[in-house]
Amino acid sequence: MLREAFRIGSRRCFSYKSVRRPNLGATSAPKAQQEKTPEAVPAANGSLAKQLRAKILATGPITVAEYMREVLTNPQAGYYMNRDVFGREGDFITSPEISQIFGELVGIWLVTEWRKMGSPSPFHLVELGPGRGTLARDVLKILTKFKLGAEFSMHMVEISPYLSKAQAQRFCYTHNTLPEDAQLPHYQVGTTATGTKAYWHRRLEDVPEGFSLVLAHEYFDALPVHKLQLDNGQWQEVLIDVAPESEPDFRYVLSKSQTPVSRVFQPMEGETRATLEYSLETERQVGLLAERIERNGGIGLIMDYGHFGDKTDTFRAFKQHALHEPLLQPGTADLTADVDFKLIKHTAEARGHLHCCGPIEQGLFLSRMQGEARLEQLLANALPENETLIRSGYEMLTADEKMGKRFKFLAMFPGVLASHLEKFPVAGF
Ligand SMILES: C[S@@+](CC[C@H](N)C(=O)[O-])C[C@H]1O[C@@H](n2cnc3c(N)ncnc32)[C@H](O)[C@@H]1O
Repeated sequence: MLREAFRIGSRRCFSYKSVRRPNLGATSAPKAQQEKTPEAVPAANGSLAKQLRAKILATGPITVAEYMREVLTNPQAGYYMNRDVFGREGDFITSPEISQIFGELVGIWLVTEWRKMGSPSPFHLVELGPGRGTLARDVLKILTKFKLGAEFSMHMVEISPYLSKAQAQRFCYTHNTLPEDAQLPHYQVGTTATGTKAYWHRRLEDVPEGFSLVLAHEYFDALPVHKLQLDNGQWQEVLIDVAPESEPDFRYVLSKSQTPVSRVFQPMEGETRATLEYSLETERQVGLLAERIERNGGIGLIMDYGHFGDKTDTFRAFKQHALHEPLLQPGTADLTADVDFKLIKHTAEARGHLHCCGPIEQGLFLSRMQGEARLEQLLANALPENETLIRSGYEMLTADEKMGKRFKFLAMFPGVLASHLEKFPVAGF
């Protein structure tokens, strides 16, 4: 199905009709949990809006996936490409940034499951979309402590030149960016204070073969989604067009004829939705990951907010910790869509015959991994003025009404281990 989609290419011959904007108020908003910060709204990213407008006028409406890809990762003006967007001063805050307990427990989980597999050495620690590099730094701390003499290297899959430098500064002692024409599968190298080598790759395909512990935290929610709608019994795609002059820059329209993706899209068994979001790119990358784990051995842990194939409109934007209209001022706000864990699980099982555990809720996972005990330990050693922050950080990660229920964990293991893992259950799941 994927190959077919790529072969069809991107010839634009759609006709379309205007559709209503998705009801943003009805979507869950995990990234909006933080209070709105008072800073001035940054200037609109006019160049990106102009580029998108010119492209649509020249070739016709674009898919939501293409819009999302351009807005987030356009090499010049993409949202992630040239600035720090995280934390209180940015647009959203993520779990590893909230409390060190998060990364430490993920690290302990990895070591526990890796040891159960016989502590294969050497191995790769791979992270997809590492942001500021905080999760990688906290996991590295744990691995360095418990690796029992095994050799490992770090492999960050990161598209943003700006963030790749921020990551290296977070956990490397030295690092350097390679010349554009280096013709190597990595574009930046570094060495940590304990001598572990770190490599930065633009794509998962470029990570060298080998037993891998793969982490993805809030990565898949940043991958492009297509919005599809059943119209007279046929799947049609919601596209983005320029708006009439009296309205803001862009608007949604429904393609009347089929697009490459609506043509090849095959709903999963039991699909009842008439409107849905489908991430072809997630399916492609999970397929690659699953085949890699089947081929070389390894473990995958996907952590994100999402659903199990039942939500409809979750495409949204965040700016300064509040929901934002995704078609306004493209490039100035984060774009995201809930991850479809049903699609991920199905793809991992079908493409790599993997054994998947979960998805389970973040709060449950952290508490089963003895998060409260780690919290007490941290509090026992904390300065009194830091106690409230440490406690509220852990609560933010685990409370049902905060991030505890919305965020989910899905683990992947080689299928051949299924019966072994039944005898020795996976920690936290
Ligand atoms: C929402 S942030 C999550 C950051 C981090 N994992 C965290 O939780 O703090 C998404 C990350 O994925 C990266 N990213 C987005 N699209 C990507 C792509 N197509 N390929 C590689 N990295 C990508 C971004 O630059 C950023 O580092």
